[in-house]
Amino acid sequence: MKHFINLKDIPASDLRKIILDAKKRKKKRKNLNTLDLDKDRPLKGKLLIQMYEKASSRTRISFYLAIKQLGGETLTLRANELHLGKGGESLADTAKILSTYGNGFMLRTDSDKKIEEFSKHLTIPIINGLSPSSHPTQVLSDVFTIEEIKKKPISKLNICWIGDSNNVLNSLIAASVKFSFNLNVSCPKNYEPKKFVMNWVKKNKRKINIFNNPKKAAKNADVIFSDKVVSLNDKVNKVKKIKDFKKFRIDSKLMSFANKDAIFLHCLPRGPEVSEKVFFDKQSKVWQQALNRVHVQKSILLYCLEKLR
Ligand code: CP
Ligand code: NVA
Repeated sequence: MKHFINLKDIPASDLRKIILDAKKRKKKRKNLNTLDLDKDRPLKGKLLIQMYEKASSRTRISFYLAIKQLGGETLTLRANELHLGKGGESLADTAKILSTYGNGFMLRTDSDKKIEEFSKHLTIPIINGLSPSSHPTQVLSDVFTIEEIKKKPISKLNICWIGDSNNVLNSLIAASVKFSFNLNVSCPKNYEPKKFVMNWVKKNKRKINIFNNPKKAAKNADVIFSDKVVSLNDKVNKVKKIKDFKKFRIDSKLMSFANKDAIFLHCLPRGPEVSEKVFFDKQSKVWQQALNRVHVQKSILLYCLEKLR
């Protein structure tokens, strides 16, 4: 069974297959409306159960559209509406029930351990829709967006992340190993990526360049990425953290250190880490980035349900 939990655990050839499939499917839908089905309806009769323990706009809507376009249906649940872990129903019981009714399970959670536990008890694939340690569906879709805009394999581009060392960055780091691209990361001292992430990179014989000076990190970049300084349910002193990241705000001056045709990406929601000018500038591709979630998640669903051609 093919789960989609962390990019680092998925073979690079499978990730590339997903991207190629998304490209083909997107092209075929050029003249279709949002709710028109793909002609082959490969997931006809299939149900994706989605569960959110944290807020979501894009992931929720893009998975809804993804399964619909493939001919299937989705049911979206809030964790507090289930018996999960209460009232005589263990996680294993819930997993059994989900596997009885559904064909795939997408979970957004505050606990990596919960995803791992579910994966042990489910007999249907699980997709990680954001956890404290990663956001794999977002980042695979971002690789797709970059190659779509730059019309080049990502391995030929310089990618730069300026911001917090969070779940999205962890997945971007995993992607940099899987797709062999150059990644510069810039963040304040003491906010660098965790040791276990860097050790994994080393073990895979790759290198991430860390800069405490964002201008140096942005130099020659083809893509500048950022994300919220304070993530959902981040248990930190928010005022202090935002202050610590003040010099890492992406404004037009900082963008000018990147290549002339560099693009700006941000998974949203956003905070003070990017200026309004950069966010709404034509270099910013955030809306295309959000839309592509639908296309890439369709191919992730096909991969998990063993229907990828
Ligand atoms: N980028 C992203 O995952 O957005 P949501 O939190 O709205 O799903
Ligand atoms: N790092 C952010 C991503 C939101 C999509 C968070 O975890 O809140």
